[in-house]
Amino acid sequence: MNKSKLVIGIIAVIVVIALILVGVMAMNNSENSENVSSTNNQATNTATNNELAEENTADSNSNTTSEGGKILVAYFSLPETNDPNNMTDAEEDSTVIVNGEVLGNTQYVAQLIQEETGADIFRIEAKEDYPLDHDTLVDQALEEQENDARPEIKGTVENIEQYDTIFLGYPNWWGDMPMIIYTFLEQYNFDGKTIIPFNTHGGSGLSSTVRTITNKLSNSTVINNAFTLSRNNMESAPEEVSSWLKEIGITK
Ligand SMILES: Cc1cc2nc3c(=O)[nH]c(=O)nc-3n(C[C@H](O)[C@H](O)[C@H](O)COP(=O)(O)O)c2cc1C
Repeated sequence: MNKSKLVIGIIAVIVVIALILVGVMAMNNSENSENVSSTNNQATNTATNNELAEENTADSNSNTTSEGGKILVAYFSLPETNDPNNMTDAEEDSTVIVNGEVLGNTQYVAQLIQEETGADIFRIEAKEDYPLDHDTLVDQALEEQENDARPEIKGTVENIEQYDTIFLGYPNWWGDMPMIIYTFLEQYNFDGKTIIPFNTHGGSGLSSTVRTITNKLSNSTVINNAFTLSRNNMESAPEEVSSWLKEIGITK
């Protein structure tokens, strides 16, 4: 074999090896860039999810939503006694005892929401006390409903403008909200606010109260996924409230 043929052969082998190396590198690059782009996609999705969660999430320490608006829990509740001893069935039905203190069912739920969200809280109370005797109370509530009454509220919410999200709590009374809730809804301007209803009941759930609130507050966003809890299941309130708040994007 002459010398020049040997050199050509060596060059040819080098060229082939070089071509193979270039091909392998090109394949690696394209795999890497696929990995990078899928990582980027994941990163983008996560950011979007985080942004969504942040938009809807209350900062529990500062009592604000991420948009800077504050949260209020406004509720009406009528525990039929303050005395934890010797309760009648009706009194037991309308109360929960927490650390020796008697709370109304709706009041208990309101306090749990407040604890989880750091919200301000306002108890809607009638100027004229309701009777605590069960039958008298039931009769008066029905009479108020039949007369489309607007019982007056004791005290006022200070600077309601500062709240962009308002949890509104009430017991089911005669398949509706107590009439004092109508007074409350008509007394303040809720335009542009988000209203989140919750109730407790003896079997009727929310009835059509969410629709009623939605119809009354046509310039507000009323959350359809309202919270409702039977007075027979009050022991599950902490877990139920907690998972509902996550479900509606208020807490993480
Ligand atoms: C005047 C009155 C009317 C009620 N009407 C209903 C009703 O129509 N449907 C129902 O499921 N529960 C009804 N209940 C039961 C209450 O909704 C239930 O006991 C509730 O948890 C009480 O909440 P509170 O302790 O926060 O006031 C009524 C209770 C009262 C006092």
